[in-house]
Amino acid sequence: MVHSTLASLLQAFEWEIEREMVEDVREKVGITLQKKRSLVGIPKPRLPDFLLILGYLPYLSDRLHEDLHKLAGTYGPIFSLRLGQKPAIIVSSPDVAKEILKHKDLSFSSRTITEAMRCMAYDGTSLVFVPYGGRWRLLRRILTTELFSSRAIDLFLPARKQQVHGLLIDLYSASQNKTPVNLAESTFIASANLVSNLICSKNLFDKNKKEGRELKEMAREALEVVGEPNIADLIPVLKVFDPQGLKRRLMKTAKKFDEFFDKLIDERLEERRKGVKINDNGRMDMLDVFLDYRSQKKDDELKEFSRVDIKGMLADMFIAGTDTTSSTVEWGMTEILKNSAIHTKLTTELDRVVGRHRFVEESDIPNLPYLQSTVKELFRVHPAVLLLIPRRNDQDCHISGFHIPKHTILLVNVWGMGRDLNLWADPMEFRPERFEGSDIDVKGQDFELLPFGAGRRVCVGMPLGHRMVHSTLASLLQAFEWEIEREMVEDVREKVGITLQKKRSLVGIPKPRLPDFVYKMEYHKDDIPCGTPDSSKQFLLLVKT
Ligand code: HEM
Repeated sequence: MVHSTLASLLQAFEWEIEREMVEDVREKVGITLQKKRSLVGIPKPRLPDFLLILGYLPYLSDRLHEDLHKLAGTYGPIFSLRLGQKPAIIVSSPDVAKEILKHKDLSFSSRTITEAMRCMAYDGTSLVFVPYGGRWRLLRRILTTELFSSRAIDLFLPARKQQVHGLLIDLYSASQNKTPVNLAESTFIASANLVSNLICSKNLFDKNKKEGRELKEMAREALEVVGEPNIADLIPVLKVFDPQGLKRRLMKTAKKFDEFFDKLIDERLEERRKGVKINDNGRMDMLDVFLDYRSQKKDDELKEFSRVDIKGMLADMFIAGTDTTSSTVEWGMTEILKNSAIHTKLTTELDRVVGRHRFVEESDIPNLPYLQSTVKELFRVHPAVLLLIPRRNDQDCHISGFHIPKHTILLVNVWGMGRDLNLWADPMEFRPERFEGSDIDVKGQDFELLPFGAGRRVCVGMPLGHRMVHSTLASLLQAFEWEIEREMVEDVREKVGITLQKKRSLVGIPKPRLPDFVYKMEYHKDDIPCGTPDSSKQFLLLVKT
């Protein structure tokens, strides 16, 4: 045993243990003579020499979240790996996640950035990727006070309502023509338009216009390439060669986006020159917030926003705010349609609380506890951002007694934690009832459930994403029965990208559940943001007749 255990420990791992601890050979007398200070260290799987450059990469698949979840079963809640030439630590338990994201959050508040993201997100100078520091604090403060504060979120309600109702009206006309609807696409357009309203008070993704359709294709291409694993990110010497051609592919799309953002800014400058009022209700969109911004404060990193600063922030919003919401909604519909008991419970609750003579509204959500439990369960099983957006420590630090050298990548496997048998009974079962009467929430205080992350770099768009997932799901279920092939619903294979999507999209024909007049009710004028293109307004009126 002594031979084989020693041999195995040495062959299988490198050991990162503090020198001082190793050299401390004081003894403790007991039934045997033990080492007084035990050796505590992070085991690092040992690599054959030829893998010194590739690190652990050859042992990983394109389903990194799954591989890391399996490795956590062997190596525990915190272990380190070399991904190419980059050191990484993988965290897979709420306790360690809490230690890092709550108690040592400051140490891990910077990010790493991929080559593709650098290309799309203006060299990582905007909110999502900028290193922790004055610039990040300023950008974050502007967003939380001007766009995501309770007041701003309330002022933004008409735009949200218009997106969700617009989606329902689209689906109603598909139901009348018996046209199959691709739910992934429809919900993507709704969330992309929501983000575009946040930015410039317009529905940029108007599928009735060539420009709108092109923009959707551009966004899809960008999100797809940005989400693809790129070996050049992990082996820096490969950067110049761009071996997978991802950067070359993305350059074209990034250029188109850049031109598009320039056009948006020019249009807004022109509107401002002419004194056009953008929103009647006093809401400021992102373009106005940034164009108006001036600071005299000595310690503010930005005195005003340059064009590139603004374009970077617009790119961030599209990258972080579109797929996350729409893929969550599609998974939600999949799980609910798969399970008729859950579907019935949800529609019964909706009928009881809302009735069938109006659409469900955001203000109904607090009265829909089963819907809330279902959404928590959805975030547990299908967190959109599987490993959070990778963080990085700017200084050496200690986590759980282990020394973590500076510039180590931190991956928190929220996908894996949602499947951990030690945390959840029957984790593979979709069962909203597990959250009934439970205080666990998704907002970053309960570390077993972190779909939006936690700490300083928690998702800034959470108030919006959280509301949108609830209201879109509730609306799709309240307003329609769904005729979708069983096989398609049960096919839960995943496609890894910037988020984890359903490989085979749900396509089906919606059947109205509510009386016809509800779908034809006139929008209150205030429900349509000023910037809504006339075509959408006409469309709404057409449906009304
Ligand atoms: C269901 C919807 C969403 C999910 C699941 C989600 C998830 C996340 C996660 C996990 C992070 C990283 C947190 C961390 O590192 O601890 C993040 C960051 C971020 N999210 Fe979201 N998000 C959603 C919607 C949105 C929306 C709608 C927007 C904006 C319109 C948005 C904007 C951002 C931004 C800007 C960051 C970076 C924050 C920073 O680094 O300071 N997200 N999101």
